[in-house]
Amino acid sequence: MCGLVGYIGDKQAQPILINCLTRLEYRGYDSCGIAVSSNEIRVFKDAVRVKVLEKAMPRLSGTLGIGHTRWATHGEPSQVNAHPHCDCPGRIAVVHNGVINNFQTLRQKLTKKGHRFVSGTDTEVLPHLIEEYYDGNLEASVARALKEVEGSYAILVLAVGEPKLVIARRDSPIVVGLGDRENYIASDVPAILDYTSRVLYLEDDDIGVVTASGVRVKNNSSEVRRKEHKISWTVEDAQKGGYEHFMLKEIHEQPKVIRDTIGGYAAEGEPVVELAATGEYELGDVLILACGTSYHAALIGKYLIEELTRTPVRTELASEFNYCGRTSAENVSIVITQSGETADALKAIKRLRGEGCRVIVITNVVGSTASRIADRVIYTRAGPEISVAATKSFIAQLMALYWLTLPYSKIDTRRLDNLITELRQLPGKVQQVLDQESVIADCARQLAKFDDVFFIGRGINCPVALEGALKLKEVSYIHAEGYAAGELKHGPFALLGKDAPVVAVVARDHTYEAMLTNIKEVKARHSPVTAIIGEGDGEVEELVDTIVTVPRVEPIFSPVVNAVAIQLLAYYAARERGCPIDFPRNLAKSVTVE
Ligand code: AGP
Repeated sequence: MCGLVGYIGDKQAQPILINCLTRLEYRGYDSCGIAVSSNEIRVFKDAVRVKVLEKAMPRLSGTLGIGHTRWATHGEPSQVNAHPHCDCPGRIAVVHNGVINNFQTLRQKLTKKGHRFVSGTDTEVLPHLIEEYYDGNLEASVARALKEVEGSYAILVLAVGEPKLVIARRDSPIVVGLGDRENYIASDVPAILDYTSRVLYLEDDDIGVVTASGVRVKNNSSEVRRKEHKISWTVEDAQKGGYEHFMLKEIHEQPKVIRDTIGGYAAEGEPVVELAATGEYELGDVLILACGTSYHAALIGKYLIEELTRTPVRTELASEFNYCGRTSAENVSIVITQSGETADALKAIKRLRGEGCRVIVITNVVGSTASRIADRVIYTRAGPEISVAATKSFIAQLMALYWLTLPYSKIDTRRLDNLITELRQLPGKVQQVLDQESVIADCARQLAKFDDVFFIGRGINCPVALEGALKLKEVSYIHAEGYAAGELKHGPFALLGKDAPVVAVVARDHTYEAMLTNIKEVKARHSPVTAIIGEGDGEVEELVDTIVTVPRVEPIFSPVVNAVAIQLLAYYAARERGCPIDFPRNLAKSVTVE
C-alpha cells in the first residue's frame, strides 16, 4: 500500500524520484508527489498518476529528495492529502506508508500547541510531531516523535539544511539501495533496480540516517548492522518487454516461472527434498494461512496434501485467523504471501510464533519481512510481479506446494516418480494453454458483455473457480462469484438465467460426474455456460455453449492449466471493457495495512 522513494547523492533528485515512482505505482496510484531539498524544501503533489504529475511539474533543483505514490486510507485522494506532508513553516517533509492509529489524539495535542493542520490524513501529524522536538538533530527528533506513535509506518524524513534522510520502519517495509557516493530508499526493490542491485533491509523499530556516503542504523538507541543483499532480479524483469500490460506479460512468463521455481528446489534427477528428512518437520496436522489469490493457492494446497498424504489440513484467511479465539494446535504452519509484506499475513506469522509454532513461509520476495520472521522460507521464483492482479506468483506458489507435498505422499514410488515427471512437464502444458490465447480471448469478449458471472468448480478445482471470480472482478470490474459447484443450488440458483453466464472448471477426476450434473442444472436455468475442459472431452462439449480446452494432465495438476485459462479470460474481458488492467481502481499490489 503506497510506495515511497528517496534519493541522496550528487545527481539531480527530481528525475530519479519520478523514475522510481513510475516503477512503484503498482503499490498505490490515487495521488503522488515529491519534495526536493536544497536551501528550501519544494513540494509538488497532486491527485494524479505519476506521468501527469511529471508533465505539470516545474524544475525542482536539489540532490536530495523524497517521493510517494498513495493508496488512500485516511482522507480521500486529493492534492492536499497527497504526500509529502510538511510542518507549517515547511522545514520538515515526510512521506509515510502505514497507518498512525492514534493520529486523532496526537493531532488534538499538537493543535493545542499551535500546529495548524491542512489535510485529512493521519500522516500529517508526523512532520508536526517531529518539528515539535526538532532542535537541529533530525534523527533524535524523529526517534523522540516515534515514541508517541501507535500504528505502522515506513517513513522518510528530510529537513531544510540537513544533508541526510532519516528513515524508520515498523510493520511496513523499507529497502535501502546502495550506490557509489549516492543512496536510494524505497518501499520495494523494483523501484530502484535501474540504479543498483545492492540493498539492505530495515527491521522493525530501526531508525536510519542515510547520507550520500553511507547508512547508519540504530535500533533501541544501539547501533546495528543490517546485512547487504544482492538482488538477482533485473531491470528487464520489471518492464513490460513489448506486452501491452504487465498482466499479460506475467501470464506468458508462467512456463519459465514453473521451470525456475521447480529448478530452484532440485535439478532434474536429484531427489525430492523432504523437510522431515532434514529433521525439520514431520508433516502432521497442517495449518495454511494466506490472503486473496495466495489463499486460493492455500486451498489447492489443502486438497493436495489431504489427497496425497491423508494428513488433515486447516486453511484460513490470515485476516480472520488473527481474530479467531482458537490457539493453533497444528504441527506445521504454512503462511503463503507473494509479497511477504501483507499486513494480515505478517500478523498471523507473529501470532503463530508467539504461540510457539514453527512457521514455514512461501514467498516470492527475498528479504521480505515474512521471509525474515519465519522459521523456514520456501522461495518461489516468479520474478517481480508488477501487475496488481496476481498470476505468475500464484502458479509459482502451486509449484512450491507440490514440491512440499510430494515427498510426504503415501503413494507408491512408481506413481510418485510419474507425478514428478509430469510436474516437470507442466511448462509445456501451460504453453499449450497460452497457445489457445485467441480462442480464450473470443470467449472473454462474450463474457465482457455481462454484468454478473459465476465460476464453478469442484474438489481441487473449486479454488480455481474462486480465483477465476477474483481475477475477473479485479481487472474487468464485472461482478463475479466463485462457487463450489454443488453450492449453487443452495441459493445462487435464484440469480441464474440468460443474463448470468457460468464458467465451469471441469476436471476429469472423481468430481467429473457431479460436475456434469451441475452443468445440466445450470443449463436448465438458461444460463450460458463456458466450460474449461481437458482435450477430447466430447461429453461436456455437447452440453455447453462455449469451450476452452486445456491439455490433459494428472488431476492434481489440473488447477495449473485451468488457472492459466481463467487468467487469460479475465485479462481479455478487462481489455474488451477498456479497464486499466495493471492498476485496477481502489487496489494496490501489497496490502500493508490491516
Ligand atoms: C490478487 O490478484 C490480489 N492482488 C490479492 O488478492 C493478493 O493475492 C493478496 O493481497 C495477497 O497478497 P500476498 O500474496 O502478497 O500476501
